[in-house]
Amino acid sequence: MSTVVVTGIGELVTNDPAVGDGSPLGVIIDAAVVVENGRIAWVGPEVQAPAADRRTELGGLCVVPGFVDSHSHLVFAGDRSAEFAARMEGIPYSGGGIAVSVKATRAASDADLLAGLRSVVAEMRAQGTTTVEVKSGYGLSVEHEARSVRIAAQVTDEVTFLGAHVVPAEYIGRRDAYVRLVSGRMLEACAPHARWADVFCEPGSRYAFDGDEARAVLTAAATAGLGLRVHANQLSAGPGVQLAVELGAASVDHCTYLSDRDVDALAAGGKTLSLDAAGTAAGRGTVATLLPGVEFSTRSPYPNARRLLAAGAVLALATDCNPGTCFTSSMPLMIALAVREMRMSPAEALWAATAGGALALRRTDIGRLTVGARADLTVVDAPTYLHLAYRPGVPLAYALDL
Ligand code: NIG
Ligand code: FE
Repeated sequence: MSTVVVTGIGELVTNDPAVGDGSPLGVIIDAAVVVENGRIAWVGPEVQAPAADRRTELGGLCVVPGFVDSHSHLVFAGDRSAEFAARMEGIPYSGGGIAVSVKATRAASDADLLAGLRSVVAEMRAQGTTTVEVKSGYGLSVEHEARSVRIAAQVTDEVTFLGAHVVPAEYIGRRDAYVRLVSGRMLEACAPHARWADVFCEPGSRYAFDGDEARAVLTAAATAGLGLRVHANQLSAGPGVQLAVELGAASVDHCTYLSDRDVDALAAGGKTLSLDAAGTAAGRGTVATLLPGVEFSTRSPYPNARRLLAAGAVLALATDCNPGTCFTSSMPLMIALAVREMRMSPAEALWAATAGGALALRRTDIGRLTVGARADLTVVDAPTYLHLAYRPGVPLAYALDL
């Protein structure tokens, strides 16, 4: 098997607190990494690096674990830039625009949906993202949800069935029938192609689902063998976070409006989460995934990251890349927003965008650069990872092809 050594890493972030500076980021200065068969075989100071068949020299740049974007909606067609422009004029986001994407998505060919998806995933990789979760949710019929998850499965293992995104137009006034469809025939058609199920739980919205409806869909999905994730507490306080924690969801996403009870529940679960969970599933607690691009693009209040961190919750950062609330594929932008707008430190933000994302997907093989992990190396064209937040909007990060 051929090996490659990556040298000239001025600053290496491993997310292994046992090495380097002993911080949660496990920073090693003047480091090297040896890769064999797509996995990391050795990490350490370059002066101690073993020989390898090939060498890639980075000339002093920074390397971080590939970003894990644990929340996106990329199987869609159509354009909603006018909705964004209207929002900037003061029209608040309500979820009503999802119907525009549903109409365009249903009308699109498989080939067009796949091409659009591939193009955003390539855009993500070019900005340092090496794992992406992709949700369905713009099909909202058995046929269109099933093809959405099938198409998503062509680009990632992290596919999420989101039939319970909103109640589609043809079911308005018949919500119960739609919840039965999602929990029954639609789930059956989608489960073979998905790892996760998700629900947009937002009782105050006439489009999304209340706590009882969300519970019905999530329990059916768990019975079908899917892991759980929940869109919750985005537009108002509601039952979503409690439900996610109670049902053992891997992640609860948005978390903008939280009660003290919500924060306590996330903090209790946070204590069970570790990338070292004996190589098994990474704990059973629920990660709080923050999506600051949504607040940026909907001009809404940001979640209180410091409150969650102070309580001991585990945070992930993700783009939520979608045509409605946030059409950016940039994890470096999420890091910059987390630092500038949510007062996370650059180290906390980078950890949440890498290790936090891995935990939100219950993965131990990504989100860190340790022996045995996937060789997902992201280069930051700068002397230190601090530049990810320090130089917002500058395309410094890219996934390294070895
Ligand atoms: O995560 N909130 C629900 N779903 C998406 C937005 C979908 C859309 O508006 O198209 C979100 O923000
Ligand atoms: Fe989302």
